[in-house]
Formats: sequence, structure tokens, C-alpha cells
Amino acid sequence: MTRTRIFSGVKPTGHLTLGNYLGALRGWADEDQHRADALFCVVDLHALTVEHDPARVRRLSRQAATLLLAVGLDPRLCTVFVQSHVDEHTRLAYLMECTASDGEMRRMIQYKEKTERERARGGSVRLSLLTYPALMAADILAYGTGEVPVGEDQAQHVELTRDLAVRFNQRYGQTFVVPKATVPKVAARVMDLQEPTSKMGKSHARTSGIVYLLDEPEVVRKKVMRAVTDAGSDVVYDRAERPGVANLLDILAACGAGDPTELADEYDSYGALKKDTAEAVVELLRPVRERHAELVKDPEYVDSVLRDGAERARAIARPRVDAAYRAVGLMPAV
Ligand code: AMP
Ligand code: TRP
Repeated sequence: MTRTRIFSGVKPTGHLTLGNYLGALRGWADEDQHRADALFCVVDLHALTVEHDPARVRRLSRQAATLLLAVGLDPRLCTVFVQSHVDEHTRLAYLMECTASDGEMRRMIQYKEKTERERARGGSVRLSLLTYPALMAADILAYGTGEVPVGEDQAQHVELTRDLAVRFNQRYGQTFVVPKATVPKVAARVMDLQEPTSKMGKSHARTSGIVYLLDEPEVVRKKVMRAVTDAGSDVVYDRAERPGVANLLDILAACGAGDPTELADEYDSYGALKKDTAEAVVELLRPVRERHAELVKDPEYVDSVLRDGAERARAIARPRVDAAYRAVGLMPAV
């Protein structure tokens, strides 16, 4: 029996956050790489869909790759690489644009939210922001992926990827595996500590509600202790009515201390909950920071992992992308 193929990625648009870790990276390292044939990718092309500074994207890509190793991805068990090093992604993305309709792209929640925000500021929206899910579908389908471990916010893009795979197979013959998203049971959506009704996102302007993986322990403590809580003072787990407290309970639960509803019973003040959550997060991130500091001293090692990773990824993706080119009627080069 062949092993399940897993693919997932992270965009180098900002420093990685506790949301990235709990919603995605931790599961990749602790479970996915052990149970499947897994590829994890720094999806740098996706970082160009919004205004960007080239030097910053380059720096953040290296940092993200280093952090993937720091959280425990082991290149002997899985493949870690950078998207732009493997041309198959963009080759296949074009075929995905020829498979998707403009209407289904425009329906993507992330597209709608980001365009609204950008237009409100009087800015323009890059065409690639609209076509982004076609590139994401290509990322996934090029590898014959069965499972895509992501946070909740990406589930809609994976649904679209499924539709495109089915449609392509129907039109041109069986070419792609139809993938499914896997979302963690707890902390699939970690919220901003200052604005607990919106996602903790790495590119938000205000950083006081975002815990970054590389924040110093003192900074983590300060951010958690200043988290916005809700009216009232009793600790109950209610995501709709008490989003601030529920977010802290989710984070504490995800740090390994149990179930958020049961945890709520153990606290009778917000202060105590915040203190324990802060310490749990500090301890959770400590080994990641330490390992990152070591890896930063050895950039050649990181480079060699990425070089091998790209080579492996290319070898997996090329035959399937070539087959897709032939299936749609493109003439093979002679
Ligand atoms: P991104 O930061 O958009 O590149 O996301 C990388 C991965 O982290 C994706 O699987 C996201 O779904 C996940 N992720 C990002 N932010 C959060 C969050 N606040 N809570 C849970 N998962 C998240
Ligand atoms: N769109 C994802 C995000 O914003 C990142 C991503 C790009 C991805 N390609 C992917 C995730 C393929 C999983 C599989 O988080």
C-alpha cells in the first residue's frame, strides 16, 4: 500500500505566529511527518500577491524555512522546500486557471476581505490575489496529495482545489488525486489577543495582539497578560459571547492542558487564567526559540536541506505536471 501523501505550506508575509504553530506547524511536526509521505513548503510566490518589499520577502522566506526545522520537521522524514525553486507549481497553476471560472475565484472569502480592505485604503488589488487559489491548487495537486493539514481559514481553498481536481479529471481523464483538508481539533483558529473576533494573522499592522514564535518570554507574558477579556468576571467557555476568554482557554487547552470547557471550571478569575496561559505559551515556544537560535548559526545546513528538498519535490511533481500538459492537448516538445 502506498503511504498517504501530505502537502502544506506557509506564506512568508510576516513572522510566524502562535496561530501558525497551533493551527498547522505543530501537527506537521508531531504527527504528519511520521505517518505519511509529507512535503512542507515555504510558499514564497504567494507572498507576492500583496504589496511587498523584495528584501523582506527574501529574509522572511529564510526565517520561515529555518522555523519549519526548528519546530521539528526532520528532513530525513519529510521534504522541506521553497515553492519558487520548483517550476512545476507555476506550470500547473496556469492549467488550473484554465480549469477554474472567474466566478468561483471571486467567491473566496479571503479574496473578498482583502480586496475590501485594500479598496477602502484607495489601493489597487493585484490580479494574482484573485488567481491565488489556482496556484494553491497547483501546489497541492502537483504532488498527488491526499491530505492537506491547514488551519480553518484555508478550508475553503482546499474545497476549491477538490472541485478543480474533479473537473480536470472529468474533462481530460484521470490525472489528479482529489485531496481533503484536515483541520486540528483544538486551536484551528487562534484569535488576535487584542481583537478576539478576528484571526491572529501575521501581517496585521498592530502587533500587540499577536504572539510571534520568536518573541522573547517577557514579550509573550506581556501580550497574554494584556489580552482583551470580556465583560463579566466568571470564567466560562463561550466563543460567541465571550470570545476573549474562549480564545485564552483554547490556547491553554492547545498547549496540552486539556479541554477548554473543563479548564474553564478550574478558574474563577481572568487574572489566574491569563497567568497560566502566559506560562504555558512561554514553555511551549521555548524549545522552538532555542532550536531556531542554533539553526541560524548554520545557514549552510538550512541551504542544503532546501536544495535536497527542491530536488525531491521536483522529481515527484514533474511527471504528473507533464501528464497534465499532455492531457489538455499541449504538444510535447521533441
Ligand atoms: P499563513 O500564515 O496564511 O501562511 O498560514 C499558514 C498555516 O497556518 C495555514 O495552514 C493556516 O491555516 C494556519 N494559520 C494561520 N493563522 C492561523 C490562526 N490564527 N489560527 C490557526 N491556524 C492559523
Ligand atoms: N494559502 C495558504 C495560506 O495562506 C498557504 C498555502 C499555499 C498552502 N499553498 C498551499 C497551504 C498549499 C496548503 C497547501 O495559509
